[in-house]
Amino acid sequence: MQRIRIALAGCGNWGMNYIRLIAQIPEAELVCVVDTNLEVYKNIQYKIPATTKFYSDYKLAFEKEKPDAVIVSTPLNTHFEICKYALEHRLHVLCEKPVSTSEGEILELKKITILNKLYFFPGHVFIYNQGIQFIKEFLNSGKFGNNYYFNFQRTGLGTIRSDASVTEDLATHDFSILLYLLNEKPEAISMTHFNYESKKFSDTAYITLFFPSKIHATIHVSWIHPIKERKLNIIGSKMMIVFDDTSLSEKVKIFKRDRSYNLPEGDFGEFQMAVRGGDILVPDIQYTETLKLQLNNFVQSVLGNETPKVHIDDALHISKIFGACKESAENGGRLTGVTW
Ligand SMILES: NC(=O)c1ccc[n+]([C@@H]2O[C@H](COP(=O)([O-])OP(=O)(O)OC[C@H]3O[C@@H](n4cnc5c(N)ncnc54)[C@H](O)[C@@H]3O)[C@@H](O)[C@H]2O)c1
Repeated sequence: MQRIRIALAGCGNWGMNYIRLIAQIPEAELVCVVDTNLEVYKNIQYKIPATTKFYSDYKLAFEKEKPDAVIVSTPLNTHFEICKYALEHRLHVLCEKPVSTSEGEILELKKITILNKLYFFPGHVFIYNQGIQFIKEFLNSGKFGNNYYFNFQRTGLGTIRSDASVTEDLATHDFSILLYLLNEKPEAISMTHFNYESKKFSDTAYITLFFPSKIHATIHVSWIHPIKERKLNIIGSKMMIVFDDTSLSEKVKIFKRDRSYNLPEGDFGEFQMAVRGGDILVPDIQYTETLKLQLNNFVQSVLGNETPKVHIDDALHISKIFGACKESAENGGRLTGVTW
């Protein structure tokens, strides 16, 4: 059996998931882990295979271990440097989200990826979520009617990051879901954001995206919210969909819109019935850990057994959205065009 030799850069909170999951994929071998914080080694030494080496310098690790691929799970401000070096040394890359907020940096990474015939996976893990995949099929089936709007809430208490804004950290997921579900890209964006508790970056943001087909999407992201919400509401002409990622078994609910705008005569109970009306369907979807699905697609793509579900262009598109968000926020939330 062919195996790919993987280096993992960054063994913090999220990197630990990769250590656990690489061990579950027979075609993957974790040859080394890299972290600049030597204390990290104390936490992970019993969780990594005895054969996996630890380094504090990724350049030395690549030179000594000669991996086929690297997973980059370090803070945002280190992604570009590590990815560029890895691609120049002919390593396939899976880089955590957001890969970079700079369109120029992503274009540079794309150039080397193509030149060296490599795979570059941005960590857009929701593309692998079976609930989101179900919704995409459902939207394309025609049963849903016309899309009206998408409304995302990705809020909770912390973690307040010191290397990225709440938009860069959390809304990346929502942008990737939107671009995956819709067959079009936003033509204009407006964002207002606030920093109440974090010093350097915003911890709360409201973003509205406008699409050529008149669909719009609103996103509320916050690190200082009392309740953890990971929710998407999609409103259409015939139905409504709720995707709730915090629910274990009923992540997707489909609401049929039987409602009539002709309000009935009668009491408040009848009025409430008229507003809701239709059936609720909870589709039977089997969920697998999305990070494992993404990692497996990366490994199998490098081995030539599968085609990638994510591409560096996905990160490029999101960097353009970041650019428009930033420009809008700097102008007090002014509607800002996005050029594609
Ligand atoms: N997909 C998701 O849902 C999800 C969830 C959480 C985090 N993430 C992403 O994962 C990445 C890491 O996040 P985290 O929460 O694990 O952060 P973290 O701060 O817990 O861990 C980052 C680790 O990288 C190490 N590091 C810093 N610079 C380095 C370098 N130059 N070389 C090697 N190691 C270095 C740090 O010492 C630290 O141990 C971020 O990009 C984040 O956005 C994704």
